[in-house]
Amino acid sequence: MLDRLSSLPSAAALGELSGGRLAKEPMSAAEAGRAVRDELRPDVDPQLNMATFITTWMEPEADALMAEYANRNTVDGVKPLRTAELSRRCIAALADLWHAPDADAAPGVATGGSSEACMLAGLAMLMQWRARRGTRGARPNLVMGTAVHVCWTKFCAYWDVEARKVPLEGDRFVIDPQAAADLCDENTIGVVTVLGTTFDGAYEPVREVCEALDVREERDGIAVPVHVDAASGGMVAPFLEPQLLWDFRLPRVMSINTSGHKYGLVYPGLGWLVWRDAAAVPAALGFEVDYTGGAMASQTLTFTQPAAQIAVQYYQFLRLGQEGYREIMQHCRALAGLLADGIDELDGLRAVTRGTQLPVVAFTTRDDAPFTVAEVTDQLSRRGWLVPAYTLPPNRTDLTVARLVIRRDFSPALARRLTADLADAVTALRGGRPGR
Ligand SMILES: Cc1ncc(COP(=O)(O)O)c(C=O)c1O
Repeated sequence: MLDRLSSLPSAAALGELSGGRLAKEPMSAAEAGRAVRDELRPDVDPQLNMATFITTWMEPEADALMAEYANRNTVDGVKPLRTAELSRRCIAALADLWHAPDADAAPGVATGGSSEACMLAGLAMLMQWRARRGTRGARPNLVMGTAVHVCWTKFCAYWDVEARKVPLEGDRFVIDPQAAADLCDENTIGVVTVLGTTFDGAYEPVREVCEALDVREERDGIAVPVHVDAASGGMVAPFLEPQLLWDFRLPRVMSINTSGHKYGLVYPGLGWLVWRDAAAVPAALGFEVDYTGGAMASQTLTFTQPAAQIAVQYYQFLRLGQEGYREIMQHCRALAGLLADGIDELDGLRAVTRGTQLPVVAFTTRDDAPFTVAEVTDQLSRRGWLVPAYTLPPNRTDLTVARLVIRRDFSPALARRLTADLADAVTALRGGRPGR
């Protein structure tokens, strides 16, 4: 009886933050822990979450490192700053993967994610433009496609930069290089291209954008740098498309970001930003800070930074090497292809992208289907899956797609299960009885 009672919540637990206020009294660790777990109890299994690009599984050794270093701050430490050194090595490895002219000298920073990295890349371009133009009152602008991540719209809003967006047209769901070059003028701080859009995983044509800008510069002297937002593709393309020209091999590419917590295969939050060389980084962006471990350069928006993610990124680089990453990305791409084939066989659905760039499958309904994409994703959610449905950005807001992000922990068994659940969903929406 006593045992049973002891598992009942205490008065303090019953009053837990329910009104959004700290209670007067503490509660036991077990009760507080249980309350948090109950609040966060997932309604979707992370492996059935097809919406996120974020790493949802790591090896036990990586999990152990994450827990071991959870109480470390990157800016703490004895001289020399060991985490800062691991971070520097990761930046050099990324600069090498992305063909910086001198990988060991390429400046870069670890950030909380790609959004912070993009914010810093945008700031660097803005400061460089100011240094070129002087402060003569002109309003700066940034050119991009409408398929950019919202972080670029945020950057423009926060820093009062005009966002000049090239719309999607027809079956082109990426930036049009010529239209991008045409939108540039002497107040353009840069052009953003995305290696793997959030909407359907398509790579934007970085090389073609650079070529159109070369022509523009030759014609009227307007020289515009390019930033590549490779939040996901930065850790996919180097392994699966080593010949694709999208990185620092293109002289116009000044900076590249990626998310360590996406295909970098680390739990959130970790992002990386690498500049091609020291000349691409405005002096005003860097601060020399003196902290417990000694003087260090700081170019980030945050000061304190968790060390665990950097430790685990370093672990993944050691553990997997180029061949390990290639195998994992190949595995993801193969499963994406299987899913896309399965979707095309279903009556009323068609794959829009098939994982041939990012391992992402976007699908929609055929014109004659008597159901909507949202109805299909709703059916999938009843079967435990989380699949987002959304409309594409302008000018293709007429098209709604569902998006499946294939990550390392997706398996052939899950691919079969998802295909079968999709088939059941379609049958149910046609008014039939699901086959299983
Ligand atoms: C292309 C692109 N850029 C930026 C971001 C923002 O990244 P983060 O979530 O790491 O801040 C994302 C997130 O999905 C993205 O897909």
